[in-house]
Amino acid sequence: MLVEEKPKVKGKSEAPAMKAVRIHGYGHSGVLKYEDAPIPDILPDEVLVKVHAAGVNPVDWKIREGGRKGAYSFPLTLGWDVSGIIERVRSLVTLFQQGDMVIARSDVSRNGTYAEYIAVRAFELARAPKHVSLTEAAGIPLASQTAWEGLFEKGDLKRNDVVLIHGASGGVGMFAVQLAKIAGAHVIATTSEKNSDFVKSLGADEVIDYKKEDFTKKVKDADVVFDTIGGETQAKSWQVIRKGGILVSIVGTDEKLAEQHQVRTKVFMMTSNGSRLQAIVDIVDKGSCA
Ligand SMILES: NC(=O)c1ccc[n+]([C@@H]2O[C@H](COP(=O)([O-])OP(=O)(O)OC[C@H]3O[C@@H](n4cnc5c(N)ncnc54)[C@H](OP(=O)(O)O)[C@@H]3O)[C@@H](O)[C@H]2O)c1
Repeated sequence: MLVEEKPKVKGKSEAPAMKAVRIHGYGHSGVLKYEDAPIPDILPDEVLVKVHAAGVNPVDWKIREGGRKGAYSFPLTLGWDVSGIIERVRSLVTLFQQGDMVIARSDVSRNGTYAEYIAVRAFELARAPKHVSLTEAAGIPLASQTAWEGLFEKGDLKRNDVVLIHGASGGVGMFAVQLAKIAGAHVIATTSEKNSDFVKSLGADEVIDYKKEDFTKKVKDADVVFDTIGGETQAKSWQVIRKGGILVSIVGTDEKLAEQHQVRTKVFMMTSNGSRLQAIVDIVDKGSCA
């Protein structure tokens, strides 16, 4: 029989119980305030995680600056990548228990992880990697899952495919290079000179310095372009994809241009998935990724 633990966390009406970095309005980094906040309540399918580290991603500052106005009320806690230890579980959570070390990409529509505690839905959780510190592990959830979802779930990348990865030294790009390589693809990566050796060390077969070289002169008939940059980089990418190939973007796309070039295109916002994240953690633990 499942016994539901009574949540001992304090509700919003009670005295503040934890520290958090919150914003009370949109703006530059000066709007971030270190202050008291209530420990979040947890729903029956959720766990309360004591935050060890919060991963920081570009979307954090984009939201802080008002990139999704109307979607949030204040005060708002930013940051949704987390590593930590489960403090409490509710009745519908069967795979995790108090004391488990976990990582997750928590629900971006709710309060985030720049805080001592975060409520996380169980289906977003994975066990923390064993061979990477808990602090480093907080950098895994969003970036790695975006790379995985883009390459395999949206781009249908297969063994021996040629994939061009733009922004290969970035958070998402560095996971994309490693995952594509593990999947057996031929990986061509764009990055600046200062990061070329790093990107090569991740396994890229070819590295193009986008500041000095024109990638359109070096890439032809790619099966997949994974675009983390957009703008001019994307505008020039249509011509390097084979007919029927695909451009997957995480920053926006242009379906008309795709049609003109007889290629497919998809843009997406990463959907958090604990099983997918666990598969990535298992690869990290094997030592072939990250
Ligand atoms: N849709 C989604 O679900 C989703 C998820 C995650 C992120 N994103 C978005 O995707 C973008 C990338 O995120 P991230 O976390 O990877 O960012 P990041 O860690 O800041 O990395 C961006 C990288 O882009 C590289 N870069 C800049 N201009 C370039 C160019 N013209 N060609 C090739 N590389 C270039 C830089 O590398 P160099 O130092 O080598 O120049 C930098 O390392 C952000 O806009 C973010 O908000 C979307």
